Amino acid sequence: MAEATTKAVIDGMVSKDISLAGKTVLITGANTGIGYETAKDLAGRGAKVLMACRDSEKCTNAIDEIRKEVPNADLRPLDLDLASLESVRACAMVVNETEERLDILINNAGIMACPKWQTKDGFEMQFGVNHIGHFLLTNLLLELIKKSAPSRIVIVSSSGHYRGQMKWDDLMSEKDYVPFKVYSQSKLANVLFARKLSTMLKDTGVTCNSLHPGLVRTDLGRHFFNKDGVWNTVKYYITLPFVKAIFTTPLKGAQTSIYCAVAPELEKETGNYYTNCQKKEEAPAARSDEDADKLWEKTEEFIGALNKTAL
Ligand SMILES: NC(=O)c1ccc[n+]([C@@H]2O[C@H](COP(=O)([O-])OP(=O)(O)OC[C@H]3O[C@@H](n4cnc5c(N)ncnc54)[C@H](OP(=O)(O)O)[C@@H]3O)[C@@H](O)[C@H]2O)c1
Repeated sequence: MAEATTKAVIDGMVSKDISLAGKTVLITGANTGIGYETAKDLAGRGAKVLMACRDSEKCTNAIDEIRKEVPNADLRPLDLDLASLESVRACAMVVNETEERLDILINNAGIMACPKWQTKDGFEMQFGVNHIGHFLLTNLLLELIKKSAPSRIVIVSSSGHYRGQMKWDDLMSEKDYVPFKVYSQSKLANVLFARKLSTMLKDTGVTCNSLHPGLVRTDLGRHFFNKDGVWNTVKYYITLPFVKAIFTTPLKGAQTSIYCAVAPELEKETGNYYTNCQKKEEAPAARSDEDADKLWEKTEEFIGALNKTAL
């Protein structure tokens, strides 16, 4: 007999009975992994899904794949490179000009443990994509999201945030670049951003929650788990059985994102962190309002031209 965790979740899967007919959703990084499964699921519930991806060919291929399983899926490709503020602004402009509503925004895209790269605007790549790009996108879409209330913002963070530390004097990791530490900082920034947003959006009918999707077999490990060169190939095949044993499928990994996006019991829940479709306490470092404020201010400074009246 199936065990119900909550009314919306049965055996770890979010009930298909929850309809999103008439709703519009935007998912970043929807062409693969957790974002792809989230897009497929929400389209299957009748939502119009805007798939915001940096590679239009991958996006079109993903749309074709989803339509094989969900023939009537209402999927729209959107160009979005979170490593370019110009691209983020262009994407938000298209959405604001063409969409009448935005009920659910899912900040899903992410990059992990890449080499010491920079975004087009000169930000450290992981902080720039995982935090700054999403920060700007969310702010530029906020009026539309508020207009569509009750609406939801879902931020895909990671349990890596528990190891995260905000290096206030070196947020761009110029002095010290340790790939996983830098990833953890960006994922802590995700939770702090969700905290600050949830406070700012109190009484607007817009909720904002963050989550850890679990350990999921996706392309996220591409920068360290790959077959580039002999040593990496050896490491790859030695590690593969462990990855297969421990990591779950993207479909299962998408369930907490889907839960935060659709569960009726979360309609008024905000400022929380979820994993396994359940509320969980975030790291102490993620519960600091002072740090959430500071991160907001610093990010505004980095972006410079952000329209402060957007909130
Ligand atoms: N997998 C896990 O075990 C795990 C655990 C904890 C948290 N997470 C989080 O889950 C989220 C989804 O990751 P995933 O596991 O599904 O990884 P994934 O398969 O690598 O998917 C990441 C997505 O983000 C996109 N992306 C990367 N850089 C981008 C940029 N500059 N602009 C726009 N999109 C960009 C990728 O596009 P391309 O395909 O074009 O590169 C891809 O669509 C991430 O936020 C990650 O931190 C995952």
